[in-house]
Amino acid sequence: MTWRAWESAPPRGAASVRVAQVWKGGRMIEALRDRLREVGFTVDAVFGLIGPDAHRALARNETTPARRATTDGSPLSTLVRLFQLQLDVPRGQVEQALPGLVEPLAAERLLAVDGDDVRALVDVRPYGDETHDWWVVADLTPGLDQRPVEVGPEHVLGISEASSSLAQLTVREPVARALDLGTGCGVQALHLSTHAREVVGTDVNPRALWMAGLTAELNDVGLDVRDGSLYEPVVGERFDLVATNPPFVVSPPSEERLVYRETAFPGDDVVRRVVTGAADHLVEGGRCQVLAAWVHDADLTWQERLGGWVAGTGLDAWVVQREVLDLPAYTEMWLADAGLRHVPDYPQHYARWLDWFAEQGIAAMGFGWISLHRTDREEPSVRLEEWPGAVTQPVADAVVEHERRVDALATGAVLDVAWRHAPGLLQESLSRPGAAEPERIVLHQDHGICRSRVADTVTAGLVGASDGDLTAAQILDALAVLLERDAEALRADYAPVVAELVQDGFLTPL
Ligand SMILES: C[S@@+](CC[C@H](N)C(=O)[O-])C[C@H]1O[C@@H](n2cnc3c(N)ncnc32)[C@H](O)[C@@H]1O
Repeated sequence: MTWRAWESAPPRGAASVRVAQVWKGGRMIEALRDRLREVGFTVDAVFGLIGPDAHRALARNETTPARRATTDGSPLSTLVRLFQLQLDVPRGQVEQALPGLVEPLAAERLLAVDGDDVRALVDVRPYGDETHDWWVVADLTPGLDQRPVEVGPEHVLGISEASSSLAQLTVREPVARALDLGTGCGVQALHLSTHAREVVGTDVNPRALWMAGLTAELNDVGLDVRDGSLYEPVVGERFDLVATNPPFVVSPPSEERLVYRETAFPGDDVVRRVVTGAADHLVEGGRCQVLAAWVHDADLTWQERLGGWVAGTGLDAWVVQREVLDLPAYTEMWLADAGLRHVPDYPQHYARWLDWFAEQGIAAMGFGWISLHRTDREEPSVRLEEWPGAVTQPVADAVVEHERRVDALATGAVLDVAWRHAPGLLQESLSRPGAAEPERIVLHQDHGICRSRVADTVTAGLVGASDGDLTAAQILDALAVLLERDAEALRADYAPVVAELVQDGFLTPL
């Protein structure tokens, strides 16, 4: 059987009609929801059924171990075989798993009936956070079991690593309005629905709008789905939170762009537009959080390039570059993603990408997190840093902590504040055997952005004594007496160190 991921695509332009039908009619999706609940089609149940090895194999697109674990004919096994393993399943079994739903789901082109067999035309898979069990509707995962990857331009990507990264980056404070820009399968909208009273999801792909609508309806979650590019569908509207994982793949222009990863905007301009357009759509205190990639070129450092995007916005910005990929590695990754890894003219594709990068003056690609915050302060705080090291999740907590520290530093008088050393901070002392004094002291953060820093005696004493009672100046004065140093000079020398310790999260406000 050959399948095409876009086989069940609604015709272009029909998305809103389609969404309205599925939404307002609602009954079939409601019945599907009830049945999936009844069967217990959850992340934990599927994991329990197939076990950890098959689960990991499936993450590598290998279905054989999971096939072997789902032969009992139970409704749960049938649902896994149908949707996740993309198998042809005998109609009788599917009728048992989804009683009364085969015909209506086939009419909606979610399933296809082929003689005595039924197969899925879309992927419906369990998903969840700590407190919710959801289902996400997306296109079938391409490339299972080493089959050639075959995706059409309107392919709607399911939950990807990038989706999870953005979900972990997004600050989950209760808000009134959230925007899921480039909603795709609607996965971010599910998360946003847990803490936003109203969620708007936008996309340019009619099939994505259809699927995001289905995902929302299946989970009984309100989602206002709107068709249009970037901020066009929300002109004149403001949000407390914008969360987006835009199609940031930088690739040579081609006839057949994959809309889930590429746009017609040149280079990394889609990310620039998201960043520069954010301020007009945020309420005071609002955030825009972006998972993004950016170009490294010969003219500017990446910090200068992104700093330039942020500069005119008036927003606070914290940009963390997590990874830099050289161009061959980047090209190989995205050619494989498009299913071009094993085609005969692979070397020609590869060379075309490298030629184009050279023409554009692109030297490498950076990848990371952008968190913008509308504080309306006179001098916005802009920090652009590289951090390829460990972080603890959800990294959203580190975003909130970063903002708290930026606010505290904005008062200017760092020595007059009673700081507290970061919870969980560890101090490591290295000494020569028999020595009275340590040769080296290192401070380690054990959560958030897990930074380490070497500390001299004064810094270590200052951090150790910072428990929120005494100001930094009082502690430095006490250290001056103890170490027989001049108090004025010590304050002057260590004011910038205190600021640095706060910026980097070793010291925090109460
Ligand atoms: C990488 S996917 C992200 C999907 C989903 N938000 C997630 O986290 O998995 C990017 C999405 O942006 C959509 N998109 C492409 N071009 C767009 C544009 N100009 N404006 C808004 N969305 C766009 C794509 O159709 C796709 O659904």
